[in-house]
Amino acid sequence: MEKTRISLKEIYEPIQAYLPRVEEEIFSILATPNELSAEVVQHFFRNKGKYLRPALTLFGASFGASVELDAIRAGAAFEIFHSATLIHDDIIDSAYVRRNLPTVNVKWSSQVAVLVGDYLHDKAIETIFSVKNDRVIAAFLKTAGIVCDGEILELKEKNNFNLKEKAYLSIIERKTASLLATCLESGAILGGLITERVAALERYGHYFGMAFQVIDDCLDFMGEENEFGKTLGADLQAGVLTLPLIRLIEFLDEPAKAEIFSKVKSGLGHSKLSDLVHLLHEYGALEYALAKAREFTDCAALELTVFPKSPSRTSLETLLQYVLERSS
Ligand code: IPE
Ligand code: IPE
Ligand code: MG
Ligand code: MG
Repeated sequence: MEKTRISLKEIYEPIQAYLPRVEEEIFSILATPNELSAEVVQHFFRNKGKYLRPALTLFGASFGASVELDAIRAGAAFEIFHSATLIHDDIIDSAYVRRNLPTVNVKWSSQVAVLVGDYLHDKAIETIFSVKNDRVIAAFLKTAGIVCDGEILELKEKNNFNLKEKAYLSIIERKTASLLATCLESGAILGGLITERVAALERYGHYFGMAFQVIDDCLDFMGEENEFGKTLGADLQAGVLTLPLIRLIEFLDEPAKAEIFSKVKSGLGHSKLSDLVHLLHEYGALEYALAKAREFTDCAALELTVFPKSPSRTSLETLLQYVLERSS
């Protein structure tokens, strides 16, 4: 029997009222007379994605007295920046599906994707400067560099079948967790929270982000393509080694490793992917990765204990359960 999954809509309830304003803000920021940019923007934002970054920004702010325009703007800036990284990431990963739609590099070209990604990146920076808060501006600029560094590290380690768990964790901390942490941190700063609480939410964002990416990497092996909205096996096909495979490889000798490597290189069809998933289960490698994700969500939950009970705190707790069960 299909188990009922927790919906993001329910989790977002305490900040739901502000999300349409973030969306309006995004479209107003990205409005342009340039027909090509406008077309690409419209295509990319047609399927919205989970809106995690604005939601986390708003949650951060919601622990303060009230959610003001600045938090909405910051949320919009983070979502636009996230979109830029996805558009660029899809070129790097040679991905052809994103949110169940063709990627910008496939529908147009890599050249268009580079430029529109840059355009979004610059618009995100312009937007964060309209938020008149030096701590938020500094946090965002620093994180933008860290995210890029994470993507560069991942690129450097492509096809490295000796990649260690520690190096993998440092990559995902940079490319994914850092931005999610900055969203909560910025929201909390804008909400006027005391330093200790800002730091607690930032750490929550870090742990949440780590769990989020580990699960994403598991879904690349065992998700449902139409729910996940991305092609399965895409990481490995692109030579990106993630936690389940890193764990499996620890158990294999050199010839067995070489066999997997050559299989992957000759193209990863559905049957080869399901053989691999079988092997991952046999060695408990997917289970190991899921347990790791749970360790991260447990750490995240601890960070919330300094906050009195509130609908926002409950939502952030439930979000941790969501991340472990998610399929999209
Ligand atoms: C995709 O992020 C990139 C990763 C960090 C795994 P999301 O899964 O949050 O993307 P959307 O915005 O919901 O599509
Ligand atoms: C996501 O990288 C992180 C960034 C885009 C910075 P991934 O390559 O793991 O994400 P998906 O699977 O393409 O969404
Ligand atoms: Mg990718
Ligand atoms: Mg990538």
